[in-house]
Amino acid sequence: MTSPPGTAEPGATAPAHHRTVRSFVLRQGRLSPAQERALDELTPRHGLPYRAALIDFDAVFGRPAHRMLEIGCGMGETTAAIAAARPDVDFVGVEVHAPGVGSLLRQIEARALSNLRVIRHAAVDVVAHMIPDASLAGIHVFFPDPWPKKRHHKRRLLQPGFVHALALRLEPAGYLHVATDWEDYAQEVLATLEAEPLLANTAAGFAPRPAYRPLTKFEARGVKLGHGVWDLVFRRR
Ligand SMILES: C[S@@+](CC[C@H](N)C(=O)[O-])C[C@H]1O[C@@H](n2cnc3c(N)ncnc32)[C@H](O)[C@@H]1O
Repeated sequence: MTSPPGTAEPGATAPAHHRTVRSFVLRQGRLSPAQERALDELTPRHGLPYRAALIDFDAVFGRPAHRMLEIGCGMGETTAAIAAARPDVDFVGVEVHAPGVGSLLRQIEARALSNLRVIRHAAVDVVAHMIPDASLAGIHVFFPDPWPKKRHHKRRLLQPGFVHALALRLEPAGYLHVATDWEDYAQEVLATLEAEPLLANTAAGFAPRPAYRPLTKFEARGVKLGHGVWDLVFRRR
């Protein structure tokens, strides 16, 4: 859904280096007391610390399973709903915005989800340093910040270098699913994904919304008003 450019508060761990895409701006976020409590009390249980070391998924989740990554979980409703619907699959959500991470931690606790962990850090670093090659069955990037002004397009997350890094983390036939409600970003992402040699489109252009991606309230309202949403689903060759 359309929202102001990505925001996070100074407590989020900063990216390790600055040549990578800065798809969000660090600024003070408003943290509710419940979210603050969740960050304090639930991070040790459901969070994964950012570390420049590959994750041992089997050790983290205590089982072998397919693994999925979601980038930019926002307040985490979709993340938690998808993880609850797929208890056989393990999920890692990455988000920089503290209120969103707090909200997602609360949902993990409330739903007693043992198959979802959250990393509060910039996704480019997490992918570069923590996610092993060919380890993911799927990657979700739902409504990435659109950065609508032309001079800000360089801040858009889904650029060729990062898309290539994501493609390398997919298992053969693993998928990358992007959804956006900004048509020009959708067209840009389509061109970027089409140009990535490791990826193949599952559709002729944009894909129908896969059933596992819940329709958000915002999106349902937008669709009624005639606003578009574009899904892109590509598979690793
Ligand atoms: C427009 S919101 C969409 C949230 C959610 N996916 C949804 O559909 O409601 C984009 C989210 O991506 C997060 N974000 C932006 N850049 C990020 C990055 N480099 N690493 C992690 N999260 C990021 C922002 O903090 C924000 O919560």
